[in-house]
Amino acid sequence: MKILKKGMNAKGNKRMWDEYYSNSLVEQDFDRLVKKNKLDHPYAREVFAACKKGDRTLEFGCGKGTMSALLAMHRHAKPTLVDFSPTAIRYAKKLFHRAGVKGRFEVCDFTKMPFPDESFDLAYGKGVLEHVPGYETGMRRGLKEIRRVLKPGGRVVFTVPNSWRPDGNRFFMRALKADYIQYDFSVAQAERICEELGFVVEKKFGDGVFYITPGELIRFFKVDKLVGKRLPLVENKELRAEARANSSPLWRANQKYFVFLNWLNKKVVPPAELGLMFGLRIRKPEE
Ligand SMILES: C[S@@+](CC[C@H](N)C(=O)[O-])C[C@H]1O[C@@H](n2cnc3c(N)ncnc32)[C@H](O)[C@@H]1O
Repeated sequence: MKILKKGMNAKGNKRMWDEYYSNSLVEQDFDRLVKKNKLDHPYAREVFAACKKGDRTLEFGCGKGTMSALLAMHRHAKPTLVDFSPTAIRYAKKLFHRAGVKGRFEVCDFTKMPFPDESFDLAYGKGVLEHVPGYETGMRRGLKEIRRVLKPGGRVVFTVPNSWRPDGNRFFMRALKADYIQYDFSVAQAERICEELGFVVEKKFGDGVFYITPGELIRFFKVDKLVGKRLPLVENKELRAEARANSSPLWRANQKYFVFLNWLNKKVVPPAELGLMFGLRIRKPEE
């Protein structure tokens, strides 16, 4: 189950994310993810369903912070955003400013957060727990810390890549010779870890967020920069429509591959979703 190569380390992780966010544009993302209100994504829907009006929320590994911005805008949530990448937090602050909402921001490792016990009603993180060094022990460390800062009855929504995804996360990790850590989990394995840590798994399902398209690979290898063209990720309907309208053969190939994965995922091997999503609540003492 473990993908740990020579060269894959936490430093590589941090460096990679720092670079990634320093290349992102707030305006572009604001229009795409916030202004157009991207609540049709299964993860966003789940986080919204778990968030009550005015909740104190924690986004661990927040990246650009769009999920929290949406909660602040539409649920009057009081979000705290944590990421160990300073460029991510800088970015998220700009996004919040642009959205006209308030949040608390902290550059820190989410497995060691500077918050008192029982500070939050809800915690959420998409694509984060799989990056904690140590595989199962890493995920445990992360979830244990999240549990500590949650109030009794607190809820968690998170996603991780599925070990059994049909396009082979591990294959890509190896092929990319990645300098950063990304583990994958089976449903039973992640569920066992959550239960061991005192959570009740209320929901578990695929979230379909971990498509790796040729466009992403091209961006990863910076080929787009070499040819002087920036390729956005093809990850939702709007972008797919944009891709269709784009005349570049590269775009079309990317689009076709995405559609193929979607089909493979949904029709051929439905149980093997690419990403897994879990909805948890803290187990009550009497349970
Ligand atoms: C795949 S990105 C996901 C970002 C965001 N959740 C999203 O959905 O766009 C993973 C994020 O987790 C952050 N991260 C990874 N390990 C972390 C850790 N131990 N502490 C804090 N942030 C971490 C990275 O800096 C990066 O922003």
